[in-house]
Formats: sequence, structure tokens, C-alpha cells
Amino acid sequence: MSRIFSGIQPSGELHIGNYLGAVQNWVRLQEGRDSTFFCVVDLHALTGNYEVADLRRRRHEMAVSLLAAGLDPERCTLFFQSAVPQHAELAWIFNTVTPLGELERQTQYKDKASRQESVITGLLTYPVLQAADILLYHAVRVPVGEDQVQHLELSREIARRWNARFASDMPYFPEPQPLLTPVRRLMGLDGQAKMSKSLGNTIGLLESREQIWDKLRPAMTDPARQRKTDPGTPEICNIYSMHRAFSAESTVETVAVNCRTAGWGCIECKKVLADSMEGVLLPIRRRAMEIGAQPSYVTDVLEEGATRARTTAQETMRQVYERMGLTD
Ligand code: AMP
Ligand code: TRP
Repeated sequence: MSRIFSGIQPSGELHIGNYLGAVQNWVRLQEGRDSTFFCVVDLHALTGNYEVADLRRRRHEMAVSLLAAGLDPERCTLFFQSAVPQHAELAWIFNTVTPLGELERQTQYKDKASRQESVITGLLTYPVLQAADILLYHAVRVPVGEDQVQHLELSREIARRWNARFASDMPYFPEPQPLLTPVRRLMGLDGQAKMSKSLGNTIGLLESREQIWDKLRPAMTDPARQRKTDPGTPEICNIYSMHRAFSAESTVETVAVNCRTAGWGCIECKKVLADSMEGVLLPIRRRAMEIGAQPSYVTDVLEEGATRARTTAQETMRQVYERMGLTD
């Protein structure tokens, strides 16, 4: 059995970048409660600035978004990271085998650290906790967006180093691999940077049709299309990449032809996209309304998930302690 693990920060509502880059894959990959683990990584979220009451709300909203997007508690284990103390415990263990230089080379760390005057240690050791998340469950398949590929490389390095020191005859931890979707990196509405909550260039998975249209209408397209009669290149247009994710194949072809020949203006193209998106997002919004109306359902699902996760996590820590000389 090759386990699946992935995590997402409790940023509140999912956005369509998270959905297309990762969570849609999670929904497809659900194989069973013992083989598929998904985690709302609330301990990772402590490395950013936050308000206590906000975090409480965002954790809950993320859980609702994930269930609405199609995670099925009968076919996966969904839980909050902080409910399974072994994540932080194994992260400490991994801190003792992780070279500082590897952490300082992580792009996400360099990006975030460069924007702060005083850098907290948790930002640097963030990928060590991530390696612990995955390896606690011996997961080898990790469905993520492209921005996480470097962190997974480091997870493999940490597994190798720990194995070399403490399990040299037979590797104990496997080397986890990323699973990417066709939309490995969705650009934001500005067309300039990755879609990301912190950049305010997102479309929320649960936004209404009207809210989405207000964002799509002014969104960046191929800059060559100044006037309606200017032909464009669909492959460089972010709206086209969203069509590929949300529209039927025949619609995607029609869009490409009408962009190249200037048969449509960008607004027409966006109207068709808004229709396609509504087809995918309306059922998700409906489920979110239903689930949101039963807060105790969400709490129960996540508590049950944490109970299952803890069973596996405890066994891993027992073996780790034994191999490291921490038992009698
Ligand atoms: P985060 O919200 O940073 O915790 O990301 C959760 C998951 O969504 C990770 O697997 C990311 O790689 C993925 N992701 C985030 N933003 C994007 C994006 N703009 N395009 C594709 N995948 C993304
Ligand atoms: N760092 C990931 C992100 O920002 C979230 C994450 C934490 C994660 N632990 C993980 C992803 C383990 C995959 C596996 O998106």
C-alpha cells in the first residue's frame, strides 16, 4: 500500500488555484481512510502573522471548503495537524538531522524572509515540519502544486539522512514524491503572479457567480489583444488556462479559435468561462451551505480523523524512539 498525504494551510476559504493545483487531485485520489490522509496544517499557519480569533474561524472554514470540494470522510482521513502532537514531535527529531544550508536554500523561505525585518525560526524550519507531516504516515504520494516540489525534495533528503543514521540496513522512511495536476501553477487575476491569498488576486471556491464575474471582467488577458479585432495567443492567456480547467473540451477549442481569429472579444470569452465555472462551482457552493449549517458534523469528522491519524503516528514515534536510543 503506498500511502497518500497532503496538507493545506487554514487560509479560510479555498481558492481556485488550491483547488485546481491540489485539492481536485485529493478528491480523485481518495482510496480509503487508512491509505489517504489530508491535513489542515494549522501549526504551519503560526509562522505567519495572524489574529487568534481569525485562525479559529479559518481552520473551520478550510475544513468546510475541503468537504464541500468533495473530500469524503468515508474514503479519507481528514484532520487538524495540531490535534496530532506527533507532528511537532517528529519535526524536532528531524531538526537534528537537517542541514541548515538546505533550509536556507528554500525558495519559499528566501521569499518570505526577504519581506520581513525580523525573521522567526519557524519560517526557516517550516519544511522540517512538513517532512514530519508526510513521513509520520510513511506516505510516498503527495498531491501538491508546483510550489511545493522543492519542499518535497528536502523531505526526501531528510528521510535519507535519518535512514542513513538510524536504519542503515533497511530504510525505515520512504522517499515521498510529488503528484502534480495539469494545472500545477495557476496565475492570479493580475496575470502577473501565482494565485495566492496573500496577494489578493484569487477567486474563492465559494464565491457567488456575481462576485466571480466582478473579478473576471477586469482580469488580465493576452496583452496583444488591445482592441476586439486584435488576434491573440490563447496559450499565453490566463483566462484560457482557466478554460482548460473548467470548460468542456469542445468549448476550449472554440475559445482557442475565436481568440486566434479575433472572432470573440475577451469579454465574450470571459462570459463563456463564467458559465463553465458556474457548472463546476455551484454544486460545491451548495454542499458548503449544507455542511456549514451543521458545525458539529465538521467537528466530529475532524475529531474522528485525528483519532485515526494518532494511531498511526504513535506507532511511528515508538519505532523512531526505539531506533534512536530513546527507550530502555
Ligand atoms: P497553501 O494554500 O499554500 O497551503 O497551498 C495548498 C496547496 O495548493 C498546495 O499543494 C499548493 O501547491 C497548491 N497551490 C497553492 N496556490 C496554487 C496555485 N496558484 N496554483 C496551483 N497550485 C496552488
Ligand atoms: N507547505 C504546504 C503549502 O504551503 C502545506 C503543507 C504542509 C503540506 N505540510 C504538508 C503539503 C505536507 C503537502 C504535504 O502548501
